[in-house]
Amino acid sequence: MTAQHPRPYGVEILGSGTALPERRLTNADLETMMETSDEWIVQRTGIRERRVADWASNEKTSTLALGALQAALKDAGMDASELDLILVATMTPDMPTPSVSCIIAAELGCTGIAAFDLNAACSGFVFSISTASAMIQSGMYRTIGLVGADCLTKHIEYSTAGRSSAILFGDAAAAVVLRRNDNDTSTGMIAHALHSDGNGSKILLIPADRNDHPDPESCDDRELNRVYMNGQGVFKFAVKKFPEVIEEALELAGLHADEVDHYICHQANARILEAARKRFGLDESKLRINIDRFGNTVGASCPLVFDELRKEGAIKPGQRVMFIAFGAGLTWGASLWQL
Ligand code: COA
Repeated sequence: MTAQHPRPYGVEILGSGTALPERRLTNADLETMMETSDEWIVQRTGIRERRVADWASNEKTSTLALGALQAALKDAGMDASELDLILVATMTPDMPTPSVSCIIAAELGCTGIAAFDLNAACSGFVFSISTASAMIQSGMYRTIGLVGADCLTKHIEYSTAGRSSAILFGDAAAAVVLRRNDNDTSTGMIAHALHSDGNGSKILLIPADRNDHPDPESCDDRELNRVYMNGQGVFKFAVKKFPEVIEEALELAGLHADEVDHYICHQANARILEAARKRFGLDESKLRINIDRFGNTVGASCPLVFDELRKEGAIKPGQRVMFIAFGAGLTWGASLWQL
């Protein structure tokens, strides 16, 4: 369930990149679509605007994922031909099959290499970067392109009926390129804690069938294929598990909270992040909140923060960063890295 790691090889994060849809959906725009207000949204969530993919213009999970990975490869100064695995964290693939990773591998000319998607909802990137690191640390792969990409807005009802989730989510993709470090085995993931509890699956889901819905009798066909969320239930779960999993990863690594330089957190709600920041006595510079500009971008959320900090020069070699997320499933996890 949780573990510290034997590390025959180190892992470096060589590059990062982001791809965002063009269209901004502001709180003022939402006010024209449903009964809500900028004040209500900002107070409850900290969100001011989010991006929405335009599928008609070919903006979708795979095209954003491709853009993000290309940007990360460019940042790393690497060619796609150097990748030996492409891994995409997503719960909103363009279609059930083929996977987003196979689609973008073909676009990059990477035929023949391993490519697969991993679905752990909003925890997808944390589960994936832990998986990718373990695969490199064990010697299975040398260079991995890892993308967090989601377009959840296609499952949102933009009306008063769907307003509690309509205000939250945005679309995005962000990527990192990971490579085996033969010289320094201390680099890479130093502890991880990944968890799930399917008993909580009904508080946040996208029902495919009436029987999936927590209340099948009342379920209207218009609710199928749309996000169903018990907001308060998710809030309670997150407020509890978020600090718990941070503590668990710190304990596994034998570190204090102030010995981690950046907490790269899933951006679900600014209030949850502020509470964690206060609980661990962290300076604002150690826990970036960018939810005001992007909303909750599901699997893209953590790498979006990472890329932003990296581009600002705030992330430096030798630092420690912890990726933390929680989401549907229910899932929650943390992956602690030595850069
Ligand atoms: N604008 C205005 N009013 C809204 C609204 C909106 N966008 N969404 C809901 N409301 C209303 C509700 O209908 C309800 O009205 P009522 O009292 O007349 O029934 C009232 O506001 C309170 O609703 P509630 O759901 O209790 O609000 P809340 O304070 O819990 O805030 C969330 C709602 C969604 C912001 C909050 O629960 C939350 O952030 N939860 C976590 C969600 C999350 O992180 N999901 C992703 C996990 S990865």
